[in-house]
Amino acid sequence: MAFPESRPRRLRKTEALRALVRETILTPADFIWPLFVVPGRGVKQPISSMPGQYRWSADLAAEEASKAWDLGVKAVILFGIPEAKDATGSHAFKKDGPVPETIRAIAKAVPEMVIMTDVCMCEYTDHGHCGIVEKGEVLNDPTLELLAREALTHARAGAHVVAPSDMMDGRVGFIREQLDEEGFEDIAIMAYSAKYASAFYGPFRDAADSAPAFGDRRSYQMDPANANEGLREALLDEEEGADIVMVKPAGPYLDIVRAVREQTDLPVAAYQVSGEYAMIHAAAERGWLDLDRTALESLVGIKRAGADMILTYFAPHAAKLLK
Ligand code: PBG
Repeated sequence: MAFPESRPRRLRKTEALRALVRETILTPADFIWPLFVVPGRGVKQPISSMPGQYRWSADLAAEEASKAWDLGVKAVILFGIPEAKDATGSHAFKKDGPVPETIRAIAKAVPEMVIMTDVCMCEYTDHGHCGIVEKGEVLNDPTLELLAREALTHARAGAHVVAPSDMMDGRVGFIREQLDEEGFEDIAIMAYSAKYASAFYGPFRDAADSAPAFGDRRSYQMDPANANEGLREALLDEEEGADIVMVKPAGPYLDIVRAVREQTDLPVAAYQVSGEYAMIHAAAERGWLDLDRTALESLVGIKRAGADMILTYFAPHAAKLLK
């Protein structure tokens, strides 16, 4: 049937009608809130390129997590900024580093909160690369040991999900094996599977002070031009034992989110990264976009594309809007 018999506008007349035919429902339980955590107590440092986001010490991170929980946000992912950085990122394995401290503080304040941790070396190395560097090269296999050690450090502190974001080959299987050997068979792995070498990570690297000191990440993160390769990465991670596969960034990669969704039965996560967040804020500050509506539209788009969960800096704000 075509016009005039068919009139799609009939079902758009009232909000009640629109609610009946709405295909995608965004809820605060879809969100995972990324938190940057630093050593100390009572620390709340604004991140200038990410309005509304801060570097928190463990005590304040736990308070924020608790407020987010009350808004319906049920998961956080922690990014550690250590006291000191060195060539091998040794602070990634400190039992009393900011990530383990925050895991314990959140678990105490909000026992039901799902606590995830980012597992990567770039926040901990002085050269800012995601693994061991030799002669200007990021070495794959020796880096696996470090990543597994970092994941174990988080698991021992009580993390529920570890999320390797380094893009070394074989890390999911390696970490899975080490976790199991140490009795952490119940700790899940969320793999940053299709992680692209993206310019949209700029503000994050300010926040974590993790921009590479030389070169870039293109020898391990993916070429933005590739879709099939993103699928291959997700399927490899599934074979290696990933419990959740992720696509990152989200907005400019919705085709990948959809393709991964169609190829796997695993839950699919999408990461709305720092640059996506910063862009919306910057335009809103100039009065060019409406912050709240743009934020929610960007998130519903990611869910509509096929994401089961969304890592987003908007988590508490969007949760408030959805209440
Ligand atoms: C660590 C990591 C990065 C992000 C998440 N984990 C930075 C990078 O790969 O350079 C980016 C997240 C964001 O931009 O919000 N490897």
